[in-house]
Amino acid sequence: MCGIVGYVGGKNAQNFLISGLKRLEYRGYDSAGIVTLAEDGSSTLIRAKGKIVNLEEKLAKSKREDTIGIGHTRWATHGEPSETNAHPHQAGHLFLVHNGIIENYKDLKRTIKNHEFKSETDTEVLAALINSFYQDGKHPLMNAVVQALKLVKGTYGIAVVSELSPKEIVVARSGSPLVIGVGHDETFIASDASALVGHTKQAIYLNDGEVARVTSESIEIKTLRSEPVSAKVEEIETSLSAIQKGGYDHFLLKEIMDQPESLTETLRGRVNVKDGVVHLGGPGLSEAELRKIKHLIIVGCGTAYHAGVLAGYYIEKFAPEVTIETVIASEYRYREAYIPRDSVALIVSQSGETADTLACLREIKKQGIKTIGIVNVIGSTIAREVDGGTYVHVGPEISVASTKAFTSQVISMVMFGLTIAQAKGVKTSILRPYVEEIAKLPAEIKKVLDVNKDLIKEIAKKYKGYEHAIYLGRGTAYPTAMEGALKLKEISYIDANAYAFGELKHGPLALIDNRFFEVALLPEGELYEKAVSNVQEVLARGGKIIAVTNVDKFDLEVEDVVKITTPLKIFTPILMNLISQLFAYYMTVAIGYNVDQPRNLAKSVTVE
Ligand code: M6R
Repeated sequence: MCGIVGYVGGKNAQNFLISGLKRLEYRGYDSAGIVTLAEDGSSTLIRAKGKIVNLEEKLAKSKREDTIGIGHTRWATHGEPSETNAHPHQAGHLFLVHNGIIENYKDLKRTIKNHEFKSETDTEVLAALINSFYQDGKHPLMNAVVQALKLVKGTYGIAVVSELSPKEIVVARSGSPLVIGVGHDETFIASDASALVGHTKQAIYLNDGEVARVTSESIEIKTLRSEPVSAKVEEIETSLSAIQKGGYDHFLLKEIMDQPESLTETLRGRVNVKDGVVHLGGPGLSEAELRKIKHLIIVGCGTAYHAGVLAGYYIEKFAPEVTIETVIASEYRYREAYIPRDSVALIVSQSGETADTLACLREIKKQGIKTIGIVNVIGSTIAREVDGGTYVHVGPEISVASTKAFTSQVISMVMFGLTIAQAKGVKTSILRPYVEEIAKLPAEIKKVLDVNKDLIKEIAKKYKGYEHAIYLGRGTAYPTAMEGALKLKEISYIDANAYAFGELKHGPLALIDNRFFEVALLPEGELYEKAVSNVQEVLARGGKIIAVTNVDKFDLEVEDVVKITTPLKIFTPILMNLISQLFAYYMTVAIGYNVDQPRNLAKSVTVE
């Protein structure tokens, strides 16, 4: 949430800051700002409400050749999106950009003298607090930052510059990511390594409780307790093409269409069709440890949570004597749930930075339970803190709506389940169909996307005037319906909810009227006939149904039918979810909203 960039070196800082902010805009886009410093310390602060283009327009009138600066794109927490509340915030000679939340900002504010507050933000309080220790340059900037942060409760990733020392940037993190890009006679700062791609491949990921002072030639890192830290330089693996739209109108469509390739990456080296087994190296559990697992707890938020629910439905079909509970991280972190000793927790997160998921991970670890990450972003906080893990390897997911990550999260978790089942001695004849279908999925995904793309575009045009939608499913199609509804609501702003077919008569059926349409997910299988009866009940009450099915002889008189032709029997819900993804995309395009940056949301939710 929110994006931070910084630059110190020999080149034009404004150029890097703007291009970096554009790369990070998906993390927050209420307002943005940059400050740069000239050699004599004079500063140029430019801020604008709204998207980065607004900032760029303002910048065109204030071009500078300054070679140091910091920038920020904001997702508002304290105070409305406005120019005054936009970062950087100034106190005395220093400027601060901040991701996260200073929870005790009201208490801290009361202690601050000699600062006239202009914004409603917690960040300005932190800037003023640092300034109170800095005392107009009497103390080194890094020391002032450390002193101030010792008083702070909450989360932060920050970057600070001062007019009085225009060759250094001080950065720190606690709960909000901060990466230092190491260049030749230049140093970059970013809250997300994607801003650094094309500038440097060398990165240092700051850990919680660390603070760094960077110049163009040096990087000094220490803890808040002043212990020196020797920096570990890591390679940034992301390529430039992976963070570009690649000819598509929107990142979302690119990411939907990417799924044959992104899932192939997830499966690489992990699936052995000949022997009917999967092999995951990352979790690092011995056969004996896998055999002992009796309980799986799956933790995530939003789409990651839905992926966990769906994976749980699959795993319980083939993993003997393993109970599975999938939980919403923001709830679970405050529950007092008992976790049996023989449990393993799967921590699911595309970004690897989601605050609630991270809090659960830490809580579960404290209880001595093994944690396995199902994470996409390499080097992210969750990836680094779990005991073991399986990267989903889908590459950067930039659109706020998560698509390719979902597909690969489900399959990664199913593969983990298969690993448990293999260790517990489940017959290959039971597991082989899963392994074979997993191997076939990328090609089937490609087929479904190619065949249905244009049809869905046409169907979407028909439904764009509706205010409400209901997604329905039974069995594995139910979590799939949950994910479909989330996708539609978050980008098209249509009020979409999912129900298990069997729940309709317990209340939701009362909703059906001409303001609603329904999306019925109807995979072939033992629950199909029951779902069909429920569809009839909806039709009898005037429902307008879009049916998504792989049943050959589907003959219900519904409004629209999307027929999926596939030999797959187990993972058809994954294919149906592609239809939901395309539908949400084309509905939003037809309505005319911003597909990749829906209002009020941001990609990575690093605050509670
Ligand atoms: O990065 P994470 O997977 O932890 O993110 C979890 C949710 O914030 C995320 O899935 C969110 O619900 C998406 N906007 C859904 O499309």
